[in-house]
Amino acid sequence: MALITLRDVQKEYRLGETITKALNGVSLDIEKGELVIIYGPSGAGKTTLMNMIGGLDIPTAGKVTVSEIPISTLSAKWLTVYRRKKIGVVFQFFNLISRLTALENVEYAIELVGVRTNPRDESSVSFRSKIIREKASEYLDKVGLGDRLHHFPAQLSGGEQQRVSIARALAKEPEILLADEPTGNLDFKIGRQILEIMEAMTGKEQNRTVIIVTHNEAICPLGDRVIRLSDGEVVENYTQEYVSAKDLYW
Ligand SMILES: Nc1ncnc2c1ncn2[C@@H]1O[C@H](COP(=O)(O)OP(=O)(O)OP(=O)(O)O)[C@@H](O)[C@H]1O
Ligand SMILES: [Mg+2]
Repeated sequence: MALITLRDVQKEYRLGETITKALNGVSLDIEKGELVIIYGPSGAGKTTLMNMIGGLDIPTAGKVTVSEIPISTLSAKWLTVYRRKKIGVVFQFFNLISRLTALENVEYAIELVGVRTNPRDESSVSFRSKIIREKASEYLDKVGLGDRLHHFPAQLSGGEQQRVSIARALAKEPEILLADEPTGNLDFKIGRQILEIMEAMTGKEQNRTVIIVTHNEAICPLGDRVIRLSDGEVVENYTQEYVSAKDLYW
C-alpha cells in the first residue's frame, strides 16, 4: 500500500447559502520517499488537498489513509497526535506565533515533537533545552536566518517570516513535509536553496516524503511526481525523472 492514499475525496465549504466544492472526487497514491509537486492555479484546491493529507481538516466524503491510518475518520484528539508525530507544515501564510521570536517559534515546534536524550548521559532540563536551542539555531541557519534569531515575526520581512516557517517545519524532521507555496515570497537564489534542502530529504534511501504546493510551473520539473489540480479535480498525475533543484530556473 502507498504511504498516502486518497479515495474519492470531496470537500465542500459552506458559507451561508453558498457551497464551494473545493475538492471534487480526488483519488491518488503517494509513495514513501517521493518528492511530489501539487500544481494548479489559484482556487484549484491545492491548500485544501494539503490540509486533507496533513489532518488539518477533514473531507466531506471519501477516504484519506496515511501509513495505513485512516486519518479521515480520526477524532480531533488523535488527529492532533497524528500531526504532531508525522507531519511538518509550511503554511501559505506562515502561521508564526507573534509573541515568540524566530528562535522560540522553531524551539516550540521541536518541543512539541519531543527530543530524545539519553537519560544516562545528562537528563537535566537545561541539557534538553540546550539541545533544542542548538537544533533550532541550526535550522534557522540553514535557511539563512542565523542573524535573525531574536527577531519577532513583526520585525521580519515577508520572505524572512516564510523562512522561519520553513525552518520550523524542517526542524521537526517530519516523516511527511507539506509545504504550501514555500518559495512564494523568496527570490531566486534563496528559493532554490530551500528547494535543495527539501530535495535532499527525499529519495529511496530516505524515509521522508515531501509535498510541495505551488502555482509556479517552473518548480514542476523538481518533482518525482506531479499532480495537477484544476477546479478541485486531478487533471494530471505523472511520475518523471526529476531535475535537481540546482538545475532549476524560474
Ligand atoms: N474555509 C473556506 N470557506 C469557504 N470556501 C473556502 C474555504 N477555503 C477555501 N475555500 C474555497 O475553496 C476553493 C479552493 O481553495 P484553496 O485554498 O484550496 O485553493 P488553492 O489552490 O490553494 O488557491 P491559492 O493558489 O490561491 O492558494 C476556493 O474556491 C476557495 O474560495
Ligand atoms: Mg492555497
